[in-house]
Amino acid sequence: MVTGAASGIGRCTADLLRERGDRVIGVDLRGTEVLADLSTGDGRRAAAEAVLARTGGTVDGVVTCAGLAGTDPRLVSVNYFGTTELLAHLRPALAAAPRPRAVAVSSVVVVHGCDEALVEACLSGAEAEALALAGRAVAEGRGRQLYPSSKAALARWVRRTCLAPGWADAGIPLNAVGPGVVLTPMAATAVTDERTRRARDAAVPMPLNHHQPPESVAEVLAFLVSEANSHITGQLVYADGGAEATLRGPLA
Ligand code: NAI
Repeated sequence: MVTGAASGIGRCTADLLRERGDRVIGVDLRGTEVLADLSTGDGRRAAAEAVLARTGGTVDGVVTCAGLAGTDPRLVSVNYFGTTELLAHLRPALAAAPRPRAVAVSSVVVVHGCDEALVEACLSGAEAEALALAGRAVAEGRGRQLYPSSKAALARWVRRTCLAPGWADAGIPLNAVGPGVVLTPMAATAVTDERTRRARDAAVPMPLNHHQPPESVAEVLAFLVSEANSHITGQLVYADGGAEATLRGPLA
């Protein structure tokens, strides 16, 4: 199953997996096998039920790409809860598969810090509180913290959850990928508008091959949900043209 499969990284990943012979069920708001709004609890449940109905209760791999950028508080619901709740719904179906794997899409922007209260609300599963904090951040002119906070919460959830009962002990690797600036509809203004592009390039410097095509992320996602991934779990794998290495510098 691939969420966000109607566009960008998700579409590219679904195409790549199909080319490699996998049967892929795409989930998105439109243009995919399963149509669901992952910003709501009902939408996440409906998505999981529709996927299970199509697979008879067993799912080999889950790739979650659905996401929103910008400063709308709803991005917290899609990016964090739309990923973590859906993965929780599908975990038993993954555990029923012979070689299950799961991977989410975070972002290199996590290195820029986040709204810790918002991240904690996410990690404790309090969506209403998270939305209230997100709304307050926007009202106080801190809306730009929402996206990195949602992605930091997601990366931390992956780290915590990979060792929780029912994941590693059930043979399910769970990872996240951290892209830099990917040439998809989401990043369109970041690369076409000169002022935005300069600001983005300063925030996400990419010395290796500069802005990246969605294939550069899809290949990593496809590996992490392939049977070849037997021992990588709990990692945030940066596929970002060296942005994280530039921003964080040498390892201690
Ligand atoms: P995109 O905008 O091309 O695709 C995102 C997809 O998510 C769309 O098809 C959209 O319909 C779907 N989606 C949004 N809200 C949804 C909802 N409520 N329910 C179901 N589906 C929904 O964006 P892109 O670039 O492919 O992004 C994929 C992931 O990669 C996102 O999680 C994004 O945050 C992340 N990412 C993107 C980067 C970039 O530079 N494009 C950089 C780092 C991370």
